[in-house]
Amino acid sequence: MSQIQLKKREHWSSTLLFVFATAGSAVGLGNIWKFPYIMGENGGAAFVLVYLISILVIALPIMIAEIMLGRRGQANPVSAVGNLVAESKASGLWRIIGWMGLFTGLIILSYYSVVAGWILAFEWRALFGGLANIPVDEAGQKFDLLIAAPKEMLLWHSIFMGLCVLVVARGVKRGIELAAKLLMPALLFMLFGLMIYGMKYAAFDQAWQFMFDFDLNKITLPVVVTAVGHAFFTLSLGMGAVMVYGSYLNKSTSLLQVSIWVIIADTVIAIVAGLVIFPLVFQMNLEPAQGPGLIFVTLPQAFAQMSGGAVWGAIFFTLLLCAAWTSAISILEPIVAWATERFAWSRVKAAVLIGLLIWLLGIVTVFSFNDWAFSFEFLGAQKNSGWFDIFDLLTSSILLPLGGILIALFAGWVMKDSARREELAMSDGLYCIWRFLVRYVSPIAVSIVLFYQLLVPLFD
Ligand code: PHE
Repeated sequence: MSQIQLKKREHWSSTLLFVFATAGSAVGLGNIWKFPYIMGENGGAAFVLVYLISILVIALPIMIAEIMLGRRGQANPVSAVGNLVAESKASGLWRIIGWMGLFTGLIILSYYSVVAGWILAFEWRALFGGLANIPVDEAGQKFDLLIAAPKEMLLWHSIFMGLCVLVVARGVKRGIELAAKLLMPALLFMLFGLMIYGMKYAAFDQAWQFMFDFDLNKITLPVVVTAVGHAFFTLSLGMGAVMVYGSYLNKSTSLLQVSIWVIIADTVIAIVAGLVIFPLVFQMNLEPAQGPGLIFVTLPQAFAQMSGGAVWGAIFFTLLLCAAWTSAISILEPIVAWATERFAWSRVKAAVLIGLLIWLLGIVTVFSFNDWAFSFEFLGAQKNSGWFDIFDLLTSSILLPLGGILIALFAGWVMKDSARREELAMSDGLYCIWRFLVRYVSPIAVSIVLFYQLLVPLFD
């Protein structure tokens, strides 16, 4: 079937390790600094309900489709789609799915690595003093000082990219799988440990209320759009990460089952992250927030006041590092897999060269917070860090949903029915539901989200 005859691919040692690695890709900064906050702000348990429904009808079918393209195509995203195009005698234009994915990954990793560098910087401060027993104001200023210091940011960005290259250069089993096997259990252990520790705070109840208060009135169209938009980023969909992981998966594994496990892990971890963070925030009378501000300004202000703040901080930033690291390697892998298969480069060579390219691009983000900063207004919101905001908007609001739509359409309309049935090996009923969802529901719903995000605010 292969258009390009590829040498035998490495495979995961077990289905469980595939789930670990894919959950590692999914669980990242998005789960920790975004989900708990949007959940708290947008109707609590009612939001979870909407989120789960939108995941079930939109994200789950696309996740199954994306893993399927990888496993059927048996190659990096560009060649995998190419192989399927040949198999289905479809237009070569569909390869855009692969190319766009590689491009999206390049951009996402370039800023993700700078942000992960901030985690290293704060880890350093937590470990070697400078985070606990200081005035609250001073703790709040640490972040501003950091982003005003491009040289320091560059140092941590370089170290983080080095860590990613190290893992990916070692290949699937000895690299990605090993990292997932070590880092995911460590992450879970730290996360649940911190949550149990946080239960002793009186504000745990307040945090619980903030997150779970069931308020259906808050469920409006913009909230649903937020839920669907977030689902793509948090589940790593639409850019070939899940696809390339799928290409290392055994033929006998049930794609429905593994996808459900990944989604459960991603959602549970995001909720628990909120139960770790918000008790502290409320206990110290701080305001809940989201994004970098929550992790690098609000939390350090809490660490500064609490007893054992340095230890808590060190554990928390280690946890965050595990989450960011396993996500980042999944963003690097599709591009490295492509380079090794396209140019017959060794893994080490491909990982180092691509890593270098992304590192270079990351410099734009480093300077976007200081020397090259400019502000602009986008959809009514003031953006103050120029390129960083542009990269983030371009990828999470446009390219990932667009990639998702194309993947759904390709899997639903272009692939041969026999090929799909063989890959999915589902009962007839389930198969028909899945096909209906990827053919109609997911592409239409995601298109609405895409247009809503881009166009509606213009008319506000
Ligand atoms: N899912 C990761 C997160 O939540 C980010 C990511 C996006 C990883 C796209 C891979 C691909 O932070």
